[in-house]
Amino acid sequence: MNNNQPIGLIDSGIGGFTVLKELQHRMPEENIEYLGDSLRMPYGELDNEEIIAYANSDIRFLEARGVKAILLACNTVSSMVDSLTARVPLFSIVDAGCQATIETVPEGDVGLIATRATVNNNAYPRMLARLTDKVHFVQQGTKTLASVINNYPEEIELLRTHIHLAIDPLITERDIHVLLLGCTHFPIVRESIEAMYPQFTIINPAIKQIAILKDYLSKNGELTDQKGIGDTRIHTTGSVADFRIFADMVDYLDIDCERLERNTLDIDANRKVPAESYKRRKKKKIEAIEALSE
Ligand code: DGL
Repeated sequence: MNNNQPIGLIDSGIGGFTVLKELQHRMPEENIEYLGDSLRMPYGELDNEEIIAYANSDIRFLEARGVKAILLACNTVSSMVDSLTARVPLFSIVDAGCQATIETVPEGDVGLIATRATVNNNAYPRMLARLTDKVHFVQQGTKTLASVINNYPEEIELLRTHIHLAIDPLITERDIHVLLLGCTHFPIVRESIEAMYPQFTIINPAIKQIAILKDYLSKNGELTDQKGIGDTRIHTTGSVADFRIFADMVDYLDIDCERLERNTLDIDANRKVPAESYKRRKKKKIEAIEALSE
């Protein structure tokens, strides 16, 4: 192993940028390879078999690029971590989120918004139960919020509608003061959430996830010995132009456009559904989102 091998990140789209941002900030010397599988998002609406297949193909892509570790910068993928196969260590954002939760809240209820797959897999409560019996998640799955953020990051009113749809059921149910953002797309709209729900202390698990990775690499003598800013490469399975526009719109990272590459991960070759139907499916989902907000 060479210490200067990159750190990999996977997400279904631009959500993992919220983890990438923390990684670049906290471990600036490291080289990074990011994969956003925008063509096949939202992962949160897939069945578990599909999530595992897609995540494994994302992992193979990063392994082929020589990564030394992979941050699962997607909660939906992390909810299936025990079923994934990898030659390098995988770091689950769900595990990090649970650790961050017990460091923030000694006891009581914590609100959690996540994709429907993450909630249906009960990933957060299962992991939290291994750490404490004093804190409990009150969960709410959202069908649309990640897609709206991924596809319409500039549509403030549309975003507000879907933030309400995701969070209001939680606060009518219980008196919640702490909210965990259990989908990596959500910190992109953190400021809107804070303005709409000033009562919340917000937990973004990305910060803990980077701390866990750093600790692991440090203990194993695998931190880079490079000086200066490392090299970040970004790959998307979707449209490079769209990815770049969305990255600019969310104004989240200073992305070097020359580093943005399209890669299809051989989607056509090894999936039960041919590539065209992913596009059709994505179009249908966008139409459904538009209909919902009319
Ligand atoms: N960003 C992903 C997560 O953290 C999910 C978005 C999606 O549904 O594709 O769960």
